[in-house]
Amino acid sequence: MSAELWKSAVNVLDANWSGDHMVPSRRLYPHQWSWDAAFIAIGLAHVDPARAWRDLRSLFEAQWPDGRVPHIVFDPSVPEGDYFPGPSFWDVPAHGSRPARGSTGLVQPPMHAIAAWEVYSRSASHEATEELRWLYPRLVKQQEYLTGRRDAGGGGLAALVHPWESGVDNSPAWDAAMSQVPADHDLLRRYHRRDLDVADASHRPTDTDYARYVHLVVAYKESGYSDLELAKRHDFVVECPGFNSILGAAESALAKIAEVVGADPAVHQERARAVTAAVVDRLWDEGSRTFRARDVRTGTLSPAHCVTGLLPLILPGLPSEYTKAILDEARSERFGLPEDTTLPVPSYDRTAADFDPARYWRGPIWVNINWLLRRGLDQHGFTGEAADLRTSMLRLVGSSGHYEYFHPDTGAGIGAGQFSWTAALTLDLLAAGG
Ligand code: SER
Repeated sequence: MSAELWKSAVNVLDANWSGDHMVPSRRLYPHQWSWDAAFIAIGLAHVDPARAWRDLRSLFEAQWPDGRVPHIVFDPSVPEGDYFPGPSFWDVPAHGSRPARGSTGLVQPPMHAIAAWEVYSRSASHEATEELRWLYPRLVKQQEYLTGRRDAGGGGLAALVHPWESGVDNSPAWDAAMSQVPADHDLLRRYHRRDLDVADASHRPTDTDYARYVHLVVAYKESGYSDLELAKRHDFVVECPGFNSILGAAESALAKIAEVVGADPAVHQERARAVTAAVVDRLWDEGSRTFRARDVRTGTLSPAHCVTGLLPLILPGLPSEYTKAILDEARSERFGLPEDTTLPVPSYDRTAADFDPARYWRGPIWVNINWLLRRGLDQHGFTGEAADLRTSMLRLVGSSGHYEYFHPDTGAGIGAGQFSWTAALTLDLLAAGG
């Protein structure tokens, strides 16, 4: 069983390799995505470290001079019509140092320092040290952009200007903030939603979501992708517990990388401490004893219980008062942390009236989020729960296949098949042993 699963995962990654980078899915996502590249590198490290480094390097070659790492780097050989919104919609200005591949102007969760450290740890070599040396200043610049220009709330966290930046696009965490964003259906009608040609509409964000997504891109683009005075002039400015926990955990990974490349780890340890304190200060809701997304414009926390609220567990320095509260929330009927025969945790509160088991980030199970949760459980000493979650993920992928996401009641695969990060993280889980 596990040899078969290993082989099927390797086959997915072979089929999705473009020669320069990995695509998440040939049909639905034919370019390179930022946080996908990081999860993919973690799995590739077990079978082809050279490709893992190439994928990360390829992404960072498209880093902007201000430090942002784009959420999609476009492949110029893919026809414009194969993905919406494609390169001409974003119309990103050419930068001196940026190769002419085209990109979006948004970011995604900065998983890359964590991934670089994982790849290095699994295959330390002279070449791997050289790759770390090349990446290190770029990773630092990425963090500085996020904690600097993106600190629109002024509390030490990165604010997001578009739901796509969170990676959990249509999560209920954004419902309250998105309800204030104009939904221009006439504008959306001028374009063709390519995703609906290749995926079931009931599994994807709605047209109203997309009308708002388009509005936010147009507004940000018209500002020249500027981050000045975001909270005053942009219609969507939020702080996500998932994104910011990855941001903090990335500083802890940078501290380890700094030691290998001869830089100062103390700077990163201090930044990890500061981000952890800011996550608690700004995103902890004492009433419900959970972490929530913050709307920077209104200063309110989202009422929705989303799986991203469990992710502060990946912060190595999170005090036990909070790790225990996260464990309680994960074990509650909202998420039902598996006891080894049940399914991994869903993306949203199972008890919520608007829980939607098939629609993208509003209910389905995602392997990358569960992989992060397992890492957090393990790191904070909840090793039995971490082992059960691993078993549960491997059983799910083994029986349903390397899907993009999974139905939280039946375990059926949904979205794209042959999905790269599911295959890559399956390799990592298999390699981790029981
Ligand atoms: N996740 C978005 C999509 O569905 C873009 O990042 O295409």
